Amino acid sequence: MENKKMYKIAVMPGDGTGPEVVSEGLKALKAASEKFGFKYQLEHYDVGGERYLKTREILPDSVLKELKEMDAIYLGAIGHPEVKPGILEQGILLKIRFQLDQYINLRPVKLYPGVETPLKDKGPEHIDYVVVRENTEGAYIGAGGFLKKGTSDEIAIQEAIHTRKGVERCIRYAFEFCRGRNRKKKVTLCGKTNVLTYAFDLWERTFHEVAREYGDIETDYAHVDATCMWMVKNPEWFDVIVTDNLFGDIITDLAAMTQGGLGIAAGGNINPEGVSMFEPMGGSAPKYTGKGVVSPLAAISACQLMLEILGEKKAAKGIEQAIMRVVQRDVKSLTAGKMGYSTSQVGDLVVKYVHGK
Ligand code: IPM
Ligand code: MN
Repeated sequence: MENKKMYKIAVMPGDGTGPEVVSEGLKALKAASEKFGFKYQLEHYDVGGERYLKTREILPDSVLKELKEMDAIYLGAIGHPEVKPGILEQGILLKIRFQLDQYINLRPVKLYPGVETPLKDKGPEHIDYVVVRENTEGAYIGAGGFLKKGTSDEIAIQEAIHTRKGVERCIRYAFEFCRGRNRKKKVTLCGKTNVLTYAFDLWERTFHEVAREYGDIETDYAHVDATCMWMVKNPEWFDVIVTDNLFGDIITDLAAMTQGGLGIAAGGNINPEGVSMFEPMGGSAPKYTGKGVVSPLAAISACQLMLEILGEKKAAKGIEQAIMRVVQRDVKSLTAGKMGYSTSQVGDLVVKYVHGK
């Protein structure tokens, strides 16, 4: 008997170019559901800068409660030029990550054939790895404060907190993911054991303990600064990189550039036991808003990652292949305004290829 699951997906287009790229992602989702036969139901939420400016509401508790009942969340972009930086990021993005305990930020770094990379003499055979970023701890927890603010004696404290439990579940996810990927079978811990001698001591000890359970997987360590260097010089050394929240944030922007930029890079905020949220890595790009010139491929990749994590592997593969075709055959560049097609035309091409046309 056919008893397909009905996925409940929350859609939060957000600010700036978020809505225009999300609608292309939803077209790809629809095409994939028709082609691969899964069912879903969308629930739209208008959280973001516009709503905040109108109502002063950021992320109502009622919305948060509903999000916890979803199978996945599909997010466009958060950030509004008229809202002070930090308010929406903390009040929406980080709040969802923390409240839904999305303790992994999974960021695949894959250069597709036909996409330009700024790395000289590097091609798709060199750039294919994944960054597993811890997503609920470290410097992001918002612990700290000011003393004597605004005076010449001012003190600002910003604490990074690393827990054994948080570190261990992140590292374990990285090893499991590496095993599932089945490529080089190598996990690299990216840290700073030479300076952050408490935090990365915990990370390193935990890393080696967990590694003992994965005899089939090679381990490696690189300081975060050296990691940046190798990501440019020898990206082919990497398979899975595991790191803390702040380092993961920084190195994945560099990584995104090596795979063709924010027009293609996507990530997932994952709670392996709960509700995960998927987003293009780029921001709201106010200056391009409404012009139909930004690449929707990052948002479409986020949709692909969502299907993969939901377990719809064939559909995810179908979308990936469609993206690969578009970048190989059609779009000239992923840079905004230089694709040779509009945002929605690129979405239409993906749809066409998902259908195998
Ligand atoms: C990201 C973003 C966020 C982060 C910001 C918007 C808070 O840069 O998803 O990488 O720092 O995590
Ligand atoms: Mn970032």
